[in-house]
Amino acid sequence: MIPEHVIDEVRDRADIVEIIGEVVSLKKAGREFKANCPFHDEKTPSFYVVPQKGFYKCFGCGKAGSVFDFVMERQGMDFVEAVKYVAGRAGVEVEEVRGRKPEEDPNRPYYEITNFAQSWFREQLLDDAVGREAREYLEGRGIDAAIAERFELGYAPDEWRAFRDAAVKHGFDEALMLELGLLKQSERSKEPYDGFRGRVMFPIKSVSGKVLAFGGRILETASGDGPKYINSPESPIYEKGRNLYGLSRGKNPIRREGEALVVEGYMDAVSLAAAGFENVVAPLGTALTPEQARLLKRYTDRALLLYDSDPAGLKATFKAGDVMLEAEVHPSVVTFPDGEDPDTYVRAHGSESTRALLKDSIDVMERKLQILEEKNYFSSIDRTRLAIDRLLPTLRAVRDHTLRDIYVGQVSEKTGVQPATLMEDMKKAPRPGVPKPRSRDVPSGPPQPRSLRGGAERHLLKVMVRGVEWVERAAEVISSEDFDDPYHRAIFEALLDDPETRTPPPSMDPVASQRFHEILVDPAELAHGSEIFSKAVTRIRVAALHRRAQDLQTRIEKSGSDEEKLELMTKKSRLAAEIRELDENYWVAATRRRPNDRNPNETTR
Ligand code: UTP
Ligand code: MN
Repeated sequence: MIPEHVIDEVRDRADIVEIIGEVVSLKKAGREFKANCPFHDEKTPSFYVVPQKGFYKCFGCGKAGSVFDFVMERQGMDFVEAVKYVAGRAGVEVEEVRGRKPEEDPNRPYYEITNFAQSWFREQLLDDAVGREAREYLEGRGIDAAIAERFELGYAPDEWRAFRDAAVKHGFDEALMLELGLLKQSERSKEPYDGFRGRVMFPIKSVSGKVLAFGGRILETASGDGPKYINSPESPIYEKGRNLYGLSRGKNPIRREGEALVVEGYMDAVSLAAAGFENVVAPLGTALTPEQARLLKRYTDRALLLYDSDPAGLKATFKAGDVMLEAEVHPSVVTFPDGEDPDTYVRAHGSESTRALLKDSIDVMERKLQILEEKNYFSSIDRTRLAIDRLLPTLRAVRDHTLRDIYVGQVSEKTGVQPATLMEDMKKAPRPGVPKPRSRDVPSGPPQPRSLRGGAERHLLKVMVRGVEWVERAAEVISSEDFDDPYHRAIFEALLDDPETRTPPPSMDPVASQRFHEILVDPAELAHGSEIFSKAVTRIRVAALHRRAQDLQTRIEKSGSDEEKLELMTKKSRLAAEIRELDENYWVAATRRRPNDRNPNETTR
């Protein structure tokens, strides 16, 4: 409950003209304002707003009321929500008195837009003239009207401002539509234009069925070129790595079937579901993320991976497999004939063949071994060693102990390496990104603010992602133990593993992945690569030496034997000399050019 006097204050302070004016274009008429009524269709304005009295009235349809009534009617809010909404605009603090807190969704305006967009796209597809080409395209791909309707497909006409004009007419906010990617704006075009043009539209929904975003496939006949698929950007309501296409309608079938079919594309998902395989989802134009795997895990602990069989598809398959294993979802691989994807396969060969193909799915580890075998990886000692390196990430990814024992047994049998040895190998490179507790004592010697150390590590990584040469240079002078921050260490190791990688490996901890992402989108400026590199390296090494010195100090204090103490102290003084030397070099280098450590964009941890 909101106290009466607060409601009165909100009503008094609110500018009804401003609030209604946001969604209706009001024209001044004497002391009042008028417009075409937003609640019914009309050609001449009979909707009036009377600011002095704080109400609105339509002489056409009779709708009338206070600013709260308007917001309730227009935005579908309840009274309390409406008061809060208006209070936000009026700058009044609203405190509810005890309990009864209605779920207030600050993202509601976004959902209103996506809902509108979905129904508008649908209408365009159904429109006899506007949607003809799109309908013909879909029919050519085996999607008739009934299927299109079931999957809520739509069509964005091949025009510059068709959607925008419709949405603006309905009073939707252009700024929000820009955020949602439904509109775009370039420097040349003052006016925003449609983000999706000449495309079949696939609504992307949350688990609970809210429309979050869209994928749009270009018609082969469309005038513009552009990529085959355009996807909505991330927005306040859409994080692509945390949603799966098809999950809202697929979740019950997934539960029922006890497994999920994971495909790469929108069309694969629609075609399979249309053919009766409704337990299907697709990650959204990205490699499967840990969040997506965990989302799936809520509904099942088995997944069939139905990816392309080409090398890129295989790579994606195994990455997804590792991510699944980490989330304790057991992945099997379905192999399609060359050049076919689930969509083409099910349409060419029908449901029965497809069902048979699914039945032939192979456990992800078995499939890996099969492929390595086909490529002759077990024919020599050297290549076996390499094969083990490629299998270790999968062994490490498995969370389920029984499954891990089975995998270790299989790898052992194939390679002739003892299970115990494999287990040791698995432990050697620690699971990336799992932070290990480390003593955070103040290091001896000159203080090193932690933010600067983290900064140096990040700077180095930013240089490393600029090219393989930098990774090689870094590998020569720094080892992963020199990193203090476990997430940075994980990223460093990932880069050593695959210097060209531009996506976080699936087994990487989510926090590390996020950081990796940030580093990838914001690499170091090109001009000072060398300088940033050598300063970062020095600072990381100094910090690492400080930590070692500190460890030695702890051991010295604990040691009972004079002999051991002496030995440790000698070591420590050698370290101190090393630090001094590095420090001097660093400060000499640093004073030549001011160190640029205080980048305000960097967060201090
Ligand atoms: P594919 O290129 O394999 O396309 O992309 P597809 O799904 O087989 O598409 P059709 O059958 O030609 O229509 C697989 C997925 O990758 C994303 C989309 O999610 C797509 O479904 N993708 C692809 C994009 O996001 N953008 C693109 O330009 C291409
Ligand atoms: Mn396809």
